[in-house]
Amino acid sequence: MGKLETIITADGSKTFYSEEFGETFHTKYGAKSEAEITYIKGCRLPEKFHKQKQIRILDICYGLGYNTAAAIDYLFTFHPQSHLEIIALELDETVPRQALDCGLLSLWPGEITETLAALLEKKQVITPNLNITLIIGDARQTIQEVVKKNWQADAVFLDPFSPPKCPQLWTVEFLGLVAKCLKEDGIIATYSAAAAVRTALKMAGLEIGVNFCVGRRTPGTIASYNGELLPPLSQMELEHLNTKAAIPYRDPSLKDSREIIIERRRKEQLLSNLEPTTKWRKRWFPQEKYVD
Ligand SMILES: C[S@@+](CC[C@H](N)C(=O)[O-])C[C@H]1O[C@@H](n2cnc3c(N)ncnc32)[C@H](O)[C@@H]1O
Repeated sequence: MGKLETIITADGSKTFYSEEFGETFHTKYGAKSEAEITYIKGCRLPEKFHKQKQIRILDICYGLGYNTAAAIDYLFTFHPQSHLEIIALELDETVPRQALDCGLLSLWPGEITETLAALLEKKQVITPNLNITLIIGDARQTIQEVVKKNWQADAVFLDPFSPPKCPQLWTVEFLGLVAKCLKEDGIIATYSAAAAVRTALKMAGLEIGVNFCVGRRTPGTIASYNGELLPPLSQMELEHLNTKAAIPYRDPSLKDSREIIIERRRKEQLLSNLEPTTKWRKRWFPQEKYVD
């Protein structure tokens, strides 16, 4: 990516705006809050650190490194005797580099910034209580290395750009691979509440529930195999899953472009007998104005 523009979010922490994807890297309600609430709390890391001495995290879309930084911060602050292993996947090395160069990581203690700077240089950092690996490349391919190793996570941070901007990382096929990297009692957390994403997670054999929200943003999604600790979806959200919006993105070869994946879904929606999403919306939000 070229030079990224810095944006200040509502909790005072900064993020970047990507011209290429037409989106900010975090919610405007708070970049640091998003890392701590959507991902650390969403994956139930406090509960997991209480129960086990060893935690494994798969950080999908490492970006500026905030979610990984928040996880290390949690370890250092509350469980310095425990061990944390992280595998982080990111397409574009210039993103974490610009975050470090612009001083955005100074939100966290210096020791964490130094660790992440070393991670970027060497792609792996091993200390007595940390083992972090950063794999650069398209996550659709790099995740296959993780699957091959049979490496399974207690927590997955699923943080790509939104489905319309980056459908490649929300498909049935990609989320199927993500599910393979999840322990039986592990949790996947994301900010996305998209019905298409929820369907793809269910197709991967997972149960889904509602994630915590940051500011006024709609609550995202958490997923696990055993469904434990998952706050249930509301009636409105359940009915959303029976509309055309719930038709998932597909990418059988894990190589298609954004445009092809979007067009494939649009065609499937046209042929579908599911309820039109506008009808569902009129039922639940009658005060809104619609142009059909
Ligand atoms: C919403 S941002 C992630 C923010 C990040 N989790 C953080 O805490 O700073 C999405 C990231 O996905 C990366 N990305 C886009 N396409 C990708 C792909 N195919 N594989 C891996 N990463 C990708 C982008 O470069 C960007 O850094």
